[in-house]
Amino acid sequence: MSKKMIITLSMCALCLEGSVKNGKTVYEVNCANCHSINMSGGMGKDFNLVSYERTKEEIKTYAQNPSGNFRKFGYSSNAMPQFNITDEEAHDVAEYIDSLQPFKKWMKKH
Ligand code: HEC
Repeated sequence: MSKKMIITLSMCALCLEGSVKNGKTVYEVNCANCHSINMSGGMGKDFNLVSYERTKEEIKTYAQNPSGNFRKFGYSSNAMPQFNITDEEAHDVAEYIDSLQPFKKWMKKH
């Protein structure tokens, strides 16, 4: 592997780590009232489960527009509110939820 490639890869690992960290804050501020992690309660689905069942893209999509996507996600009604979060915050919270299941890429989804 070339030196340039190693540098690029390690920078990317750093930026991913930053997203996950920021995403955890976005979660704590906006989502934790309803969505638990590790089955600690709440009305929304546990994010550990969501991490198994959904792709990063799906999670970001739902975080940005629940009312426009609840039917596609298999719900008959929508109780999750619309958030005023930036595209970056939605991206980061999806990275954070996705990171809860590091082995999911080896598991079959749906
Ligand atoms: C007021 C409670 C509430 C808050 C706060 C909330 N949610 Fe939800 N969420 C729900 C409920 C209830 C559902 C089930 C579908 C619906 O009602 O829209 C849901 C569904 C979801 C789903 C789809 C789950 C699946 O796999 O079927 C995702 C993804 C999700 N929420 C992400 C988030 C994120 C990210 C945040 C924070 C930015 C958040 N939610 C904040 C209540 C909430």
